[in-house]
Amino acid sequence: MWFPVQTVCLRSRTVCKRGSVGAFLRCLRHLDANVSPFSHSAGRCSQTCQALVYRKHGDPSQVVQLEDVPLPSTGAKDVLVKLLAAPVNPSDINMIQGTYAILPDLPAVGGNEGVAQVIEVGSQVKSLRRGDWVIPRDAGLGTWRTMAVLAEDDVISLPNDIPLLAAATLGVNPCTALRMLSDFEDLKSGDSVIQNAANSGVGQAVIQIAAARGINTINVIRDRSDFTQLSERLEAMGATHVIKEETLRQPEMKELFKTCSKPKLALNGVGGKSATELLRHLQVGGSMVTYGGMSKQPVTVPVSALIFKNVKVLGFWVTQWKRDHSHDGRAFRAMVDELCSLIQRGKLTAPACTEVHLRDYRSALEAAMLPFASSKQVLIM
Ligand SMILES: NC(=O)c1ccc[n+]([C@@H]2O[C@H](COP(=O)([O-])OP(=O)(O)OC[C@H]3O[C@@H](n4cnc5c(N)ncnc54)[C@H](OP(=O)(O)O)[C@@H]3O)[C@@H](O)[C@H]2O)c1
Repeated sequence: MWFPVQTVCLRSRTVCKRGSVGAFLRCLRHLDANVSPFSHSAGRCSQTCQALVYRKHGDPSQVVQLEDVPLPSTGAKDVLVKLLAAPVNPSDINMIQGTYAILPDLPAVGGNEGVAQVIEVGSQVKSLRRGDWVIPRDAGLGTWRTMAVLAEDDVISLPNDIPLLAAATLGVNPCTALRMLSDFEDLKSGDSVIQNAANSGVGQAVIQIAAARGINTINVIRDRSDFTQLSERLEAMGATHVIKEETLRQPEMKELFKTCSKPKLALNGVGGKSATELLRHLQVGGSMVTYGGMSKQPVTVPVSALIFKNVKVLGFWVTQWKRDHSHDGRAFRAMVDELCSLIQRGKLTAPACTEVHLRDYRSALEAAMLPFASSKQVLIM
């Protein structure tokens, strides 16, 4: 985590995942993009910055506080960055609640993704320059803060001509969507994918990346008063079909499959009955990939789906993918470049977002936990 004074590591159930990250921080006065070419110490005004800190697990709107935290000096292999924007994702909420698979030592700074601008580089930094936009390479950096000193290796650069919100929300959900569409089934143009939570950040990225590849998406969302409006929004992004959870059990599905092939891939971010219903529509031999459990219900797989349809039931965690590929930066670079290229070509946009200033963090945290919101809270620093 990007937390001062102590080195912080993420606890998993069995091992400490991060021995040492850029845990040393410093604050500058100059917060704009007009940084000078001099790499060291220009504009330094104080030894603190602001961060959303939690000292115990619990209700995020109760346990998170905006605090001044100290910053250390920038080491030779470090960069000093100004955070620009960082979303509030379900995993951030679960980490604060203490229910996520990996947890930082406390106290910790919230937030796992976001975009920052480099404003000072250490003397031995090779891959980054002042003015670059960067995102974290791994979970657990604690992005809800105004400034941070990070190891060069903890971040990866992005083009800074893409929209701010697209950059801030690129590192988790679009990466997850791209990997799930690429790594489990050999999907070709004309093939179909079915997904629940289709209005989630992941779901919106799945719709857009699939559409860019000519893949049909059958998008399942919960019924709501503004279903038609939301459905039209997802269709404008490239969704082939948008249906309600209830429709999965109805004869209308037969009609739908007259114009759309049976899906090779099901993406499950919900669990419970919704996941079981997705399985019902998979092609023989298809895969269901579970990446989230928003309903907090287990996935039940009918015996018949295993025996007679030989479906594969798998899981995916983008954090593990990033760690598995951390020895070779090329795979992550290629994924980020592919996503940025889609953004630059207008084929991938940020999910619907609500921008909230860092000081109004409590309303952002409360809103992030509401159902049927259909908008991601993004903290603007
Ligand atoms: N495995 C990975 O690598 C990975 C990566 C990224 C995200 N995730 C997980 O994916 C899930 C979605 O993340 P996100 O950032 O895309 O979410 P998000 O943008 O915050 O959207 C949340 C989604 O969950 C749905 N939802 C909430 N409560 C629900 C419930 N009780 N039953 C059914 N649906 C419910 C919402 O639908 P309504 O509009 O109907 O409320 C919405 O579609 C989370 O579980 C997250 O932790 C996993």
